[in-house]
Amino acid sequence: MPSALPIADPAPLDGLLPSSVADNAASRNFGVYLHVPFCRVRCGYCDFNTYTGDELRGAKRTDFAGQAIAEIDLASGVLDQAGVATRAVSTVFFGGGTPTLLPVTDLAAMLRAVIVTWGLAPGAEVTTEANPDSVDLDYLVALREAGFTRVSFGMQSAVPHVLATLERTHDPARIPLAVAWAREAGLQVSLDLIYGTPGESIGDWHASLDQALAQQPDHISAYALIIEDGTKLAAQIRRGEVAMPDDDLQADMYEVAEGRLSQAGFEWYEVSNWAAAPQFRSDHNLGYWVGHDWWGVGPGAHSHVGGVRWWNVKHPAAYADRIAAGHSPAAGRETLDTETRRVESVLLRTRVREGLPIGELAASGRTAVASLIADELVDARAAIAGRIELTLRGRLLADAVVRRLLSDD
Ligand SMILES: C[S@@+](CC[C@H](N)C(=O)[O-])C[C@H]1O[C@@H](n2cnc3c(N)ncnc32)[C@H](O)[C@@H]1O
Ligand code: SF4
Repeated sequence: MPSALPIADPAPLDGLLPSSVADNAASRNFGVYLHVPFCRVRCGYCDFNTYTGDELRGAKRTDFAGQAIAEIDLASGVLDQAGVATRAVSTVFFGGGTPTLLPVTDLAAMLRAVIVTWGLAPGAEVTTEANPDSVDLDYLVALREAGFTRVSFGMQSAVPHVLATLERTHDPARIPLAVAWAREAGLQVSLDLIYGTPGESIGDWHASLDQALAQQPDHISAYALIIEDGTKLAAQIRRGEVAMPDDDLQADMYEVAEGRLSQAGFEWYEVSNWAAAPQFRSDHNLGYWVGHDWWGVGPGAHSHVGGVRWWNVKHPAAYADRIAAGHSPAAGRETLDTETRRVESVLLRTRVREGLPIGELAASGRTAVASLIADELVDARAAIAGRIELTLRGRLLADAVVRRLLSDD
């Protein structure tokens, strides 16, 4: 089952926000995330907030778009009442789950509601995640016509035994087809890859990178496989049926990814993300990393506006009940104090290519910089110019770098 929600303050049923969220709102971009919590089957490694048909406890996929549109309406009222002047939306991201399990008319209706409510900023990025086996040319053309600009396919691997260990259902031969259809439809293409799956060799990883690069995507995300508690894969590893991923092999695979992708003209801009050109970076994800505002619509979706963060009830049936009662679906919220915001900024911005100004660190963090340079985790020239930027080794050990930058704070 999906992981638990954070513990924090209860959120009011009307969802109202304090007027402090309006402070400097015009200086922050506004994004909308729509969480579509449905999958045909659950992959063995995944603990995302997603539900298969027999886990829905009476909630219906067919009702979802209407509920999400009701939450968009509620969001508009809450932001107005808090005094946040209407901002055109810079990025929209449909994630999941598998958004493309819904009819394309549902995705189009939800996007239309966002556009009618707030408008889209010029050049807005509108993405949906998609399983390669859940779309065809007609579906992708309809997405483009509805205003989507980008599709992110969960490719994961090109190697059948790796896909089998991950319990992915798609045939790798589907990837070139899906990418060609997306191109024909006029959509930008991103591919998600996973490395370090038990039984995956360096040769297998090269084969996946070969196939991903052969598609000439605009963007690639490559994630080290995380063994999440409570997943089927974690249980298989505990029982000794499947080997635990090897940390050193995963590190080697990251270096292979960086070498192959940079050779092919891709530039890393976040630890797990590479873009074929700066305009193909995911603006939506950058918004999370640099602390902009976003409203997360849907079960379990998280939101952040002006230092207040909240998250919705997780189950689609609980979400449906809240919306049907005319209540906010928020389950809990927390107001971030200045120190927490600073710590989170260090945490997130360290992982981004542009890094963060050393001046944003506390004294102990600034003291750690010299030893991080000596350990070749932080770029010396950037540090002299006043910024923390990770080296390749630093990217491999990003979490450890962040811990040292925040030590004793
Ligand atoms: C919501 S899924 C993408 C859309 C679609 N459901 C799919 O899987 O094709 C987002 C991405 O998260 C990554 N992911 C999910 N669980 C992961 C895990 N345990 N370790 C590493 N990456 C993971 C996968 O690469 C996946 O494509
Ligand atoms: S299809 Fe995507 S969201 Fe669904 S279970 Fe698999 S990885 Fe998770």
